[in-house]
Amino acid sequence: MKRVITMYFSPTGTSRKIAEAISSAICAQFGCEMETINLTEKEIRDGEHEFEEDALLVLGYPVYAGRVPEVLQAPLRRLKGSGNAAVLAAVYGNRDYEDALVEGQDILTKAGFSVIGAGAFIGEHSYSKKVAAGRPDETDILKAQAFGRQFAEKLEQGSTAEIKIKGNRPYKDPMPDLPFVPKTTDACSNCGICVKKCPMQVIHKENPRVVDSGCILCSACVKCCPEEAKIIDAEPILKIKAMLESKFTHRKEPELFLF
Ligand SMILES: Cc1cc2nc3c(=O)[nH]c(=O)nc-3n(C[C@H](O)[C@H](O)[C@H](O)COP(=O)(O)O)c2cc1C
Repeated sequence: MKRVITMYFSPTGTSRKIAEAISSAICAQFGCEMETINLTEKEIRDGEHEFEEDALLVLGYPVYAGRVPEVLQAPLRRLKGSGNAAVLAAVYGNRDYEDALVEGQDILTKAGFSVIGAGAFIGEHSYSKKVAAGRPDETDILKAQAFGRQFAEKLEQGSTAEIKIKGNRPYKDPMPDLPFVPKTTDACSNCGICVKKCPMQVIHKENPRVVDSGCILCSACVKCCPEEAKIIDAEPILKIKAMLESKFTHRKEPELFLF
């Protein structure tokens, strides 16, 4: 093992934190290099990524409607593995992760990887600051690091056995397209932070108040805005937010699959 590749799609940063925690623990165990591929950035997502045989993949992504985010599916299908070991980290907003791990396992297996570890972790919900607030927290990061160490031990023992992960096939229906975009209030100071953070590049550089269609409602702009000027107030999202805040505030814990 020469290299650990930390790959993530993470609009609001929670999946990145978990993937990095797992990778850093594996790197510490093997004393190897870490490389990062940030698929949140459109140009990198649109690129081709090949994997040398001695590389191990740690893939972090958020759960969207119990699935792998649609926008991430084609980039993952284009990866070219050569039998590389991989570990998945699906990060969900304390409701459920449903089929997001088995779907990730299927996509990576077809792309030439061997998924021998997977974990469902919890991150603050994209649509609420009250659901899984502040997660992943210190305890989550420690669990992710311990998981990384266990994964490294599994590899050291020479085990490349595929794992049984919780989830269903066929998967849940995909998320319907939601035909609205975030609004911008007068608090906007034109700082442009949201322009850089938007994974879809749909916020205008010259005027960040303008958001084109093609938005995936990931909340990156809402969560990064220092003025809290970006809001998603479309009725379906407000309903989801109210449902989450009434039913899903009870703390869930990571679920790990290694054997
Ligand atoms: C479009 C969309 C759909 C989501 N669907 C789910 C879901 O099915 N279950 C859940 O628990 N959280 C769901 N979430 C919340 C995210 O999975 C969660 O907040 C995650 O930590 C965000 O990851 P990121 O910080 O890497 O962007 C959804 C978020 C968005 C934006």
